[in-house]
Amino acid sequence: MLGLFDSGLGGLTVLRAVRAALPDEEIVFLADQAHVPYGDRSEEELVALLHANVAWLEAAGADAIVMACNTSCAVAQRHGWPSAGVRILDLIESAALAVTRRGLRDIAVIATAATVRTGAYGHALRSRAPAMKVTEIAAPALVPLVEAGEIEGEVARRAVAEVCERVPSTCEAVLLACTHFPVLDAHFATALGPNVLRIDPAIVQAERAVALAIEAGSPRGSGRTRCVTTGDGVRFAAQLEMMLGPDLARTSEAVRLEYGRDRRAP
Ligand code: DGL
Repeated sequence: MLGLFDSGLGGLTVLRAVRAALPDEEIVFLADQAHVPYGDRSEEELVALLHANVAWLEAAGADAIVMACNTSCAVAQRHGWPSAGVRILDLIESAALAVTRRGLRDIAVIATAATVRTGAYGHALRSRAPAMKVTEIAAPALVPLVEAGEIEGEVARRAVAEVCERVPSTCEAVLLACTHFPVLDAHFATALGPNVLRIDPAIVQAERAVALAIEAGSPRGSGRTRCVTTGDGVRFAAQLEMMLGPDLARTSEAVRLEYGRDRRAP
């Protein structure tokens, strides 16, 4: 069984890609909506949340963890990964692979404020391609819009357009480095135009998840997906239905997560 987590609905973009690549795999997806948005939190809080989420997924039976949150990966790169008993697939590694495979030289990374603060993306990209020009842009307004279901309207269009104004005109590509952002892809497409490539790291993450599932000996099974929130279960079911259809919505549950006593309770 593969475990995925995110602060909220963004992780569903990774879940969708992983599910398409591994139709028979059992998947458990944890949305930590009690603490969304992660991007506005301190690194200390984010480290505590990372550890709690990984521990929860392991206890739920995950044989491997496919990261569906860039912000958590960024803090893990800076402060270390939990010493989990299972393999963890870093989303930033997949994003870097997606960029370097295409031989891009000038890219913008649009991410949460916490991700940008760590500099993890700049580091990951430049360590593979030292001459690459990387512009990191924080976009704190977008995650709350997706969580509120403000996806198709004028408010979201304008918010994305404002972020895209900060993309230098020389950029060949934009990395959607927060899993909530591909939900707003239509607005990014309008704002950036046809000459700027938009990269969703979930595609390469799903590709790597296939190899990981085989390596982890994760038995193929019923193709069951279990979706869990730390927030409001009823609201989550409606959100799942809107984003992924009625089948997944029926699997939704709400849970409470325990955070380490030695860390400040977020
Ligand atoms: N979707 C997450 C990410 O990829 C976190 C967004 C947030 O909660 O701020 O970074």
